[in-house]
Amino acid sequence: MALEIPSHVIVFPFPVQGHVNSMLKLSELLCLSGIHVTFLNSDHNHCLFSTSDIRSYLLYRYPDLFNFATISDGLSDDHPRSGNRIKDLFKAIEITLIPLFKDMLISGRLNLKFGCFPTCIIIDGTMCSAINVGKDMGIPVIVFRTISASCFWAFFNIPNLIESNEIPLKDNCDMDKYVESVPGMEKILRLRDLPGFCRAADSSDFGLQMMMNQTQLTINAHGLILNTAEELEEEALTQIRRLIPNVYTIGPLHALLNYRLPLTTRPSTSLWEEDRSCMAWLDSQHPRSVIYVSFGSIAVMKSEDIVEILHGLENSGRPFLWVFRPNSVHGVWPVRELGSIGVKKQGYMVEWAPQEEVLAHPSVGGFLTHSGWNSTLESLVSGVPMICWPYFGDQQVNSRFVGEVWKTGLDMKDLCDRKVVEKMVNELLGVKKDMFLESTKVMAKLVNKSLVMGGTSSNHLDRLINDIKVIVNKFN
Ligand code: UDX
Repeated sequence: MALEIPSHVIVFPFPVQGHVNSMLKLSELLCLSGIHVTFLNSDHNHCLFSTSDIRSYLLYRYPDLFNFATISDGLSDDHPRSGNRIKDLFKAIEITLIPLFKDMLISGRLNLKFGCFPTCIIIDGTMCSAINVGKDMGIPVIVFRTISASCFWAFFNIPNLIESNEIPLKDNCDMDKYVESVPGMEKILRLRDLPGFCRAADSSDFGLQMMMNQTQLTINAHGLILNTAEELEEEALTQIRRLIPNVYTIGPLHALLNYRLPLTTRPSTSLWEEDRSCMAWLDSQHPRSVIYVSFGSIAVMKSEDIVEILHGLENSGRPFLWVFRPNSVHGVWPVRELGSIGVKKQGYMVEWAPQEEVLAHPSVGGFLTHSGWNSTLESLVSGVPMICWPYFGDQQVNSRFVGEVWKTGLDMKDLCDRKVVEKMVNELLGVKKDMFLESTKVMAKLVNKSLVMGGTSSNHLDRLINDIKVIVNKFN
């Protein structure tokens, strides 16, 4: 009788919070279907995880199916890994991460716990150079992008945007002009809505080139996993499938995991300790009255912008819960303004919050966000309208979809002024509250429908699981 070969997947995220979050959720969904997973975490992030329960939870719940392995990200421990300095991590991919990954595969160090060679690699889409590493060893590689399909498609079309002279953006160009070189997006994206990388002054810019090249390489992979739902981004998905036919849309992953494995409490995938005191503060507020403010795990803001947002919130007179991550401000920390507003009276500040729980809290009526894709999906699922103040990367595209396509909030892009903040907060939680609550309810229903058995995301996940199970590696 032929010996059954276990499916063993290496899941390798780009080592920052937003990527680790969704790829850990995918890993757990794979374990639930009997697939062995080795999650390749950076040493730095693995160390941060030691303060959370997620490590022990996964190892205890899936003792024969889940394993962590670690790899150096090539940066010193005190490197900030945020703001502009995130590009050092991108540089480390080619220099450190991919060569080390190759060595680990060749040496068999990733086979140790399960005693079997990996049958598939799921690699973060910012590290597509690893596709060749897998190919050389006969292991199929599936790419996972933690961004929206629409942003992926915009990245994919960077060569067209350069060729047609739409980017680099010219001085004094009309930022509200619609983009012509991203097929299917002609009536949606304006120049200002292109991904942040497209604002580079020169087409040889490192970030722009890196994102363009890594995205183009996706075409060589066995398939593409996107943390989105068909219903959210039909047009972009139709376009992508013309070039990459095997696309698995399995999002929103956090909600799909909650649906397939409902738990009363789930250990957080946060790299930093969550300050849960904000939950008690939320309990003391009126229903749908609070604006939640968070700019994710990487954004580093200018102190002038923080001051404008603070005054806008103060002038709106509405209670707010603000996640003020340490080291998230350039320049001078605006202590005077924080003090003068009497933060404790009108607002509450924490360094890191249990965001999914916060968004599900009945007191939260709006989310002032940097429009990271995880935050956008978490807000959509919870039916919370957004004010979008995108920082970089994919966020300019996401905020356009919130403001213009799904109409689940307001896009504050490129306007950080206390009057604008005040006006938008009052629209979201006041004069236009019912309209936004209605549109977010409709979108939440649509997204949640994709998760149930027979729903689009659920079906795509089952297809992915099935495909992984039938992949047999020649080394076994
Ligand atoms: C990055 C990119 O910036 C983002 O645009 C991309 O889509 C993924 O990688 P980040 O900037 O951190 O991520 O934003 P986001 O995608 O929103 O991820 C942040 C995550 O941290 C969310 O899952 C959110 O729930 C979590 N979070 C944030 C917390 O758990 N607590 C907090 O206080 C703030």
